[in-house]
Amino acid sequence: MVQITYRSSDGAQRVVDVPIGTSLMQGAMTHGISGIVGECGGSAMCATCHVYLDPADQARVPAPNAVELEMLDSVADERKPNSRLSCQLIASPEMEGLVLHLPSRQV
Ligand code: FES
Repeated sequence: MVQITYRSSDGAQRVVDVPIGTSLMQGAMTHGISGIVGECGGSAMCATCHVYLDPADQARVPAPNAVELEMLDSVADERKPNSRLSCQLIASPEMEGLVLHLPSRQV
């Protein structure tokens, strides 16, 4: 397990345990965190699991692949350099304490 913080755009936050090997989108779903939709179930086809990484955390997660980078063009809120699809972030020990900032909208 790793502890992940999901912080909504209004500042509210939840800290939850996500099993190693599970996507951070699935971790949000399991704990009923609103603000992540995950419409396609995690296959990088919907962009409704958009999150922003803390800039300081970007080196702690693997870089996005070409499919994720293309799908990030479809996010509903602003795409930023620290935008990621949480379904493509798979929990690993390096992610302990990661903070994900949720956009104000996913659709
Ligand atoms: S859940 Fe659809 S792109 Fe992540």
